Amino acid sequence: MCGIIGYTTRKDNSVEVAVNGLKNLEYRGYDSSGIAFFDGEKIDIVKAKGKIANLDDKLASQDTKACCAIAHTRWATHGEPNEANAHPHNVGKVTLVHNGIIENYAVLKEDLKAKGYSFNSDTDTEVAAAYLDYCYSQTGDKLQALVDACDSIRGSYAFDVIYEDEPTTIYATRKDSPLVVGYAHDGNFAASDISAILDYTNKYSLINEGEFVKITKDIVTFYDKDLNKIEKKSETATWDANQYQKNGYDHFMLKEIYEQPKVINDIFERYYTDCSYKDIDFSKFDKIHIVACGSAMHASLVGKYLLQTYGKIPVMVEIASEYRYSEELITPSTLLIVVSQSGETADTLAALRLAKEKGAYVVGIVNAVGSTIAREVDKCIYTYAGPEIAVATTKGYTSQVAIFSTLALMAMEEKGYLTQETAKEIKEDMLSIEPKINDVIANREKYLDIANDIYNHNDLFFLGRGIDSSVCMEGSLKLKEISYMHSESYSAGELKHGTISLIDKGTPVISIATDEKLFEKTVSNIKETKARGSYSIFVTTENHGDDHSEFADKTIILPKTTDFTEPILTVVALQLVAYETAKLRGCDIDKPRNLAKSVTVE
Ligand code: G6P
Repeated sequence: MCGIIGYTTRKDNSVEVAVNGLKNLEYRGYDSSGIAFFDGEKIDIVKAKGKIANLDDKLASQDTKACCAIAHTRWATHGEPNEANAHPHNVGKVTLVHNGIIENYAVLKEDLKAKGYSFNSDTDTEVAAAYLDYCYSQTGDKLQALVDACDSIRGSYAFDVIYEDEPTTIYATRKDSPLVVGYAHDGNFAASDISAILDYTNKYSLINEGEFVKITKDIVTFYDKDLNKIEKKSETATWDANQYQKNGYDHFMLKEIYEQPKVINDIFERYYTDCSYKDIDFSKFDKIHIVACGSAMHASLVGKYLLQTYGKIPVMVEIASEYRYSEELITPSTLLIVVSQSGETADTLAALRLAKEKGAYVVGIVNAVGSTIAREVDKCIYTYAGPEIAVATTKGYTSQVAIFSTLALMAMEEKGYLTQETAKEIKEDMLSIEPKINDVIANREKYLDIANDIYNHNDLFFLGRGIDSSVCMEGSLKLKEISYMHSESYSAGELKHGTISLIDKGTPVISIATDEKLFEKTVSNIKETKARGSYSIFVTTENHGDDHSEFADKTIILPKTTDFTEPILTVVALQLVAYETAKLRGCDIDKPRNLAKSVTVE
């Protein structure tokens, strides 16, 4: 989390450019922000609590002509979000911004205090700045000081550094946090990701772990840790700046919901035309582990259902931060699938590294091209969903589900379970999904109507069985994330084992029953809640008829498809219920409180 950008230029607009870039990084954290810039004589630092707009306001009242700036948007880890804890941090000759966590900061801090350093914030980052200043005082060499400091620092970091005695040069390095260099017409960048620089250039290079970079307005030089120069080619980003605009939508989340029909259709079309991952040989593995966080973990649960039910392969889904406690289950015959929209989630990255150490083969389902996870897995399956800006994922999640659908289909093919008739049915279903998702989206009035019923409640339940129960988890998370309503997702059959005590008169219960085999059982569970006074919202498919008034106060009817696509249709409806509810509650939909989109700390 946290986003950083540094820009050094032949012009005097580095502050404007850096703040503009920072706005595109705001999805990485937004509790405070700050900038340091060289005004021709000295380095000025301006910080503000809250969103970047507050920093903008402060900067508006002063002269910001500067040829070099480093800036930061924060998601607090050490110390509350206030100006003292906001970056940049300056100690001695060093001013820096940091994304990551310095794990041994307490030990370093004590050591530095003994050396005479004092501190003004609660952050680990100020300790890193002090430690770098100390290293610089020992060697007098700026690159060597950075190498030495990184040798002693444990944890994750992406640093942009300026030194007081060379204030137009940015020094940068990274470990376990992303950082790219950008080459623009008037100067050069080092930023957390290319979205920050796309308004100015699409030419970039990734900084690898353990590389050190010296960036001036004219030249970028890469070094290894022994400070030997490294030659590096630039790459060209395919995402363009326009994809980072709302393009007329009220929110990025809404825009991204509307992008889903095309994104999902493209995944299925690619599967039937030029599928790059059809060579995964499932027969080589005795088990599949799927590891992810948040919504990606929920997509993995749908994946588990499909791979187990149709591919008949045992699958374990684990939350990435817990996976290390299953270490003894990882063997060279394990296929690990890691799932990550951003490709930078620290817990998922740690899980993949552990599994590789244990000899497992690792496949990644990733959206962000060139991200760390994409580069470290044995095989990367890109979702190509395009940039996702809203913190609450929508197309990121559904594109992961769509990839799992194709993997289950592959497993069936490989194991000889796919009859011609079923293959035809699934293919027709997948290739006709676009208009069906559009139909679900078009039902906006219905979602608003339901939102009106639920938005002033504090507790809500989602119920489902089988594949629907995994989709419920995502529907519930969406609502929690953006509307701040407390919501629980329960397997329909489990509710009566305790949680039903929470159902009271008027408690909203959203139940999903798309699976024919489980329909009657789920309806029985809904009736159990109805008997206790619940307000019942029922989501089902058209083949079950349209009159469910016996147990439903409101009904959402979805097109009937197969298990390979139905979860996508269902979740789109739930995304829109969450969206409309959050809107009625006046929430900050694209940037919910306390969250960040890319979680690069463990
Ligand atoms: C954060 C985001 C979630 C996301 C999760 C995993 O918590 O707020 O929306 O699902 O990280 O992110 P990833 O990029 O690995 O899919």
